[in-house]
Amino acid sequence: MPSEIFSSKRPKTSPECDPSTLSNYLDFIVKHTDIKLEVDFDAKVLTGSVTFTLIPNKDINEITLDSSYLSITKAQFNDENVEFIIKPRVEPLGSALFIKSIDVKANQQSSLSLEFATTEKCTALQWLAPEQTSGLKDPYLFSQCEPIHARSLFPCFDTPAIKSTFSISVDSIYPVVVTGLAESKSESASKGSTIYKFNQKIPIPSYLFAIASGDITSASIGPRSSVFTEPLDLKKCQYEFEADTENFIKTAESIIFNYEWKEYNVLVLPPAFPYGGMENPNITFATPTLISGDRENVDVIAHELAHSWSGNLVTNSSWEHFWLNEGWTVYLERRIIGAIHGEPYRQFSAIIGWTDLVQTVEKFKENKTEYEAFTPLVKDLKDNKDPDDAFSTVPYERGFNLLYHIETKLGGKEKFDPFIPYYFNKFKYKSLDTYQFLDTLYEFFNDAESKKILDSIDWDLWLYEPGLPPKPDFDTTLVDECYDLAARWTKATESNTSTSDLFNEFNLKDIKSWTANQSVVFFDTLAEYPSWSKYTEFVRTFNKIYSSYPESNNAEVIFRWLRFNILGHVTENFQRLADWLGTVGRMKFVRPGYLLLKSVDINLAKETFEKYKSGYHPICRSLVEKDLGL
Ligand code: BES
Ligand code: ZN
Repeated sequence: MPSEIFSSKRPKTSPECDPSTLSNYLDFIVKHTDIKLEVDFDAKVLTGSVTFTLIPNKDINEITLDSSYLSITKAQFNDENVEFIIKPRVEPLGSALFIKSIDVKANQQSSLSLEFATTEKCTALQWLAPEQTSGLKDPYLFSQCEPIHARSLFPCFDTPAIKSTFSISVDSIYPVVVTGLAESKSESASKGSTIYKFNQKIPIPSYLFAIASGDITSASIGPRSSVFTEPLDLKKCQYEFEADTENFIKTAESIIFNYEWKEYNVLVLPPAFPYGGMENPNITFATPTLISGDRENVDVIAHELAHSWSGNLVTNSSWEHFWLNEGWTVYLERRIIGAIHGEPYRQFSAIIGWTDLVQTVEKFKENKTEYEAFTPLVKDLKDNKDPDDAFSTVPYERGFNLLYHIETKLGGKEKFDPFIPYYFNKFKYKSLDTYQFLDTLYEFFNDAESKKILDSIDWDLWLYEPGLPPKPDFDTTLVDECYDLAARWTKATESNTSTSDLFNEFNLKDIKSWTANQSVVFFDTLAEYPSWSKYTEFVRTFNKIYSSYPESNNAEVIFRWLRFNILGHVTENFQRLADWLGTVGRMKFVRPGYLLLKSVDINLAKETFEKYKSGYHPICRSLVEKDLGL
């Protein structure tokens, strides 16, 4: 049994206690959360109230909630005013909101209400000026709560271990979307605004709460799906997603079980949105960098959709077990892509992921503490480590690789498949840790032969050892072409091939018919070669031969082309990267983009950041500041 293997590391009770909350969440069940918000675009403030329907599981005299940079004006327990204290701030967890002198017996349903307003320092919200939107005339608001920012939007038990149903009402002068199904719309009594009401009937954790408001319209992209975005971008967004969305949902349903959330919608945000996608229930938030006109970034939609099961129905109980959300989601995303386009495409995507993992682990090696805390699958976030600092591809790709390893060891997809609905069914509406996952694996595969196979997996290594896990054998059919071309280029540079010979040997046709992902693999392979800085002229010739790259609309491709130019010290393209950093807000590009600039011209990096920093999301801004040593 795995529990024997982990006897030293396994906590006494599962799920393991969440180190990233200050709340006393273990004392309660939250049955329902009722939240009312008013959006003030002029003051850039959300004001509101939240009411929790609570059931304490023991006799209770005090409640501690999470809060961060919130102004709290009133607290009521069972409709009576109660005193509260905001404790001094503890980085990065925030300020505990402490309510004492209450007296409630175990199992007695109670209500706790708080009135609050967000402040300028709120880390969950970004308020955009009209210039930061495509319409250029209206302001825009959006939230991003994962992992621990919900507490700066409303006081709560800000842990993925607590889930509740929600009713949400928002008063705004602009259309509103939230994580829930729209219920009604009515005119507000006061000032020409509208009250939008929503319901989320499936219990969700606080980090999945989300809101956006602005000049937002919608169009259908499938029988249960719409895309929401600004009017100017609507047609393009509809085109990007309408061919695949329903197909993805049906495929996921055939692998796991029925989609329970009724609608699956996508909100395409302005460029400042710091992630590729965020799986807010019923309304995935997505970066506009997905809208490339070639439908080549839809795997992000497959990923966010897959979260409807892994993450949103079945949730990691703390950010130390984040791989249960992301590793499982990458696994399902690749199963969806593989089911639709064929197994070689799953393998192709897995190879891209592996390269990413190798690069990430290499980078962590520069800092021993981070390497040890953040490259194992199960992370150590105790002693107030910031989950945002721990964020990397490790839980995604190491997590995927563990599941893929289990699948392969057990004898392939057919053998592994029945476990998928079993696991998701067992933990739906719940939160769990890695140990419960392992127990369930052993519980399901309980015949002697399977148990022997599971026992042969080196769990200690997979879960706790820093560095890379063993590299699996991937089917390289689709990538061989990309590897070959990259090898020919490195060979040509090493043998100092003349420019005219380069023009003879290489041709735009080499890459013309490639998918964006093939170009990604090509550039990732080229980037592994350590000496491009010595071959600047080669890179310039490369740019002339493959003249379509600088024109690419695909952010994954353009970023890698720019990176290749920085590695090759092509000075005239330093500014080009700097300019591009003014057009994207997605952290996946912004952070490495500044690090690349810093590696060749620290002043340009700092000047560029000064110029664009006000447009970046607060989390993105603070991480780049750290990266640049500001
Ligand atoms: N849930 C994540 C985004 C996230 C993680 C936000 C942690 C805040 C903290 C989302 O599902 C995600 O993984 N997005 C990826 C895209 C995906 C295809 C790998 C991204 O944003 O790049
Ligand atoms: Zn994800």
